[in-house]
Amino acid sequence: MKLYGIGVGPGDPELLTLKAYKILKGVDMIVAPRSSEEKRSRALHTVEEVIKERDCIVVEPVFPMTKDQAKLEQYWKKAREEVVAKGNSCETAAFITLGDPSMYSTFYRFLEVFNDLVEELEVIPGVTSFSACTSTAQIPLVEGTEIVSIIPDVKAKNAMRVIEDSDSLIFLKPKDLDKIEDMLGNEKAILCVKVGFEDQRLVSGKVSEIEEPTHYLSTLIVKKGTKSLEVKRRIL
Ligand SMILES: C[S@@+](CC[C@H](N)C(=O)[O-])C[C@H]1O[C@@H](n2cnc3c(N)ncnc32)[C@H](O)[C@@H]1O
Repeated sequence: MKLYGIGVGPGDPELLTLKAYKILKGVDMIVAPRSSEEKRSRALHTVEEVIKERDCIVVEPVFPMTKDQAKLEQYWKKAREEVVAKGNSCETAAFITLGDPSMYSTFYRFLEVFNDLVEELEVIPGVTSFSACTSTAQIPLVEGTEIVSIIPDVKAKNAMRVIEDSDSLIFLKPKDLDKIEDMLGNEKAILCVKVGFEDQRLVSGKVSEIEEPTHYLSTLIVKKGTKSLEVKRRIL
């Protein structure tokens, strides 16, 4: 089987690349991960207009957000069984993921689990969520020799060092804004929620003024020392 790992971008269907669009129009099976039985795959939601008149197999395996390895293994096993059962006559399959497949995505874990079935592989990059955030907020993330870092979890081993050494920071799913303020200082920031979706929301202010986001698709962007990190008039 030929497998495509496709980044579908941050959620706005118009940010799908032309290459991804063409592959999704022709592929035999689409595998779209979701976080629970009750929820639809956000990646699938992003491409539904592209595939709505297509007669292709769609599998939505559940990969719950848990650090419990034993539980995860069970879900991976189930995902493998489902994909193999439904796709055994398929010559091509696409695993779709939000943003880019190389950025905190399940795609490379999927590849490990299905490696023996994959004869050929092609990975299609996607617009990352933080590119969509900075474009929507209309701010330069870094310029000249400035350094930007991505913090997936403020409890990560090197988080403090990275925060100190970077000019700009991208905090994924920022949960503990008090801790971020302690580590960073009360810098100006922009919180971007569900960028690219119809109900996207941008909030700017000092870290202490921003309310903790509850939605998983939330990103906090900080450009240190800046006085003008504000959501501009024309955005919302
Ligand atoms: C597991 S990471 C996946 C990143 C993705 N592969 C990418 O390239 O952007 C998920 C995190 O990305 C950020 N994110 C993804 N989509 C987003 C969106 N539409 N708006 C804001 N943040 C988003 C959030 O911080 C979310 O918790």
